[in-house]
Amino acid sequence: MAILAFLLLVLGLCEPNEATSQKPNILLFMADDLGIGEIGCYGNYTIRTPNIDRLALEGVKLTQHISAASVCSPSRSAFLTGRYPIRTGMNGHDNGGKRVLLWNAASGGLPTNETTFAKVLKEQGYSTGIIGKWHLGVNCNSMDYFCHHPLNHGFDFFYGIPFTLVNECEPSRPGEIAVEYKEKLWFDAQVFFITVLTLIANKKWKLIDITWTVIVIFALSGTLFFMYWFIAFAFQPYWNCLFMRNLEIVEQPMDLKTKSGQIIKEAKAFINRNEDKPFLLFVSFLHIHTPHYTTKEFRGRSKHDLYGDNIEEMDWMIGQILESIDHNNLKNNTLIYFTSDHGAYLEGMEGSPHLKGSNGIYRE
Ligand SMILES: *[C@@H]1O[C@H](CO)[C@@H](O)[C@H](O)[C@H]1NC(C)=O
Ligand SMILES: *[C@@H]1O[C@H](CO)[C@@H](O)[C@H](O)[C@H]1NC(C)=O
Repeated sequence: MAILAFLLLVLGLCEPNEATSQKPNILLFMADDLGIGEIGCYGNYTIRTPNIDRLALEGVKLTQHISAASVCSPSRSAFLTGRYPIRTGMNGHDNGGKRVLLWNAASGGLPTNETTFAKVLKEQGYSTGIIGKWHLGVNCNSMDYFCHHPLNHGFDFFYGIPFTLVNECEPSRPGEIAVEYKEKLWFDAQVFFITVLTLIANKKWKLIDITWTVIVIFALSGTLFFMYWFIAFAFQPYWNCLFMRNLEIVEQPMDLKTKSGQIIKEAKAFINRNEDKPFLLFVSFLHIHTPHYTTKEFRGRSKHDLYGDNIEEMDWMIGQILESIDHNNLKNNTLIYFTSDHGAYLEGMEGSPHLKGSNGIYRE
């Protein structure tokens, strides 16, 4: 009680000065699938992350930011709301090893009635923007409802992917969505066509008593069924790899080549636009998620193939955005926070020379 009284006294006596009366800006950087052991200031001496290291050097380095889930959708829902993913319905069933939204068009997502930090800050007069990955759903029942969209969660600006980056977005990489289902479908399709051929042969040699109409109907309906699925899979880049500005789709499928530059440009523009008012900018990188798309300038620079190149490119992007903060003289009034949504995608190591990952002090 005595301490409280003292505090009140001190607060009462203190006139708010210029610096404290102006609300601080908040700049959040979130990497995707980055392990704690992959940046310089956490002990990685073979990947160069000077910009992230500088943040640690000039600020504080935290070692206990524990992610609420090991995969994107639930961990990001917890980050935004401060609630356990299970309370927001974002901790899905173990869906073949994945507990995340697997399709952009899925009807699930972060419920509109949840309180995100963006909503709280917006009420406080902040200008709120998210640039990059969302992965917390888009629509509920119809295509223009946008119930789970960032603009319904307290952000007044969105530029990025409503879904997540997947290999399907990079034509040169093997697909990763529903791979087992596709293989099973392909096997079933072959069995089906052998069955049709067998029926035709038997009919021709009069071994079975079946009309041509039945055979034709059977063959046609099966063909339609398999075509439906294979065409659907072929359209995946159109369904899952799209880029939006607010509610509008600006690229479908998106071109990964241009994304790093555009993210920097939009982040800088957002900072410039809001130079005079408090802002929240959440830069949610597409890095370093598979397929580790890295622009030409950064390829082959690191000691860890595309994986390390991708981290170094992300670090460079952070440097570019921080320059904008310095340039606008906002450094002393901006809280800058860098984190990863969860640990490295270690289970992705198999079968690909690109996949690495290090969970540093948390490694098993
Ligand atoms: C949001 O709405 C759902 C469905 O009505 C309800 O179950 C949930 O508790 C609500 N969440 C919050 C944070 O109010
Ligand atoms: C640095 O990161 C790379 C890529 O994940 C990893 O292979 C390497 O083991 C890490 N080094 C240390 C010292 O953790």
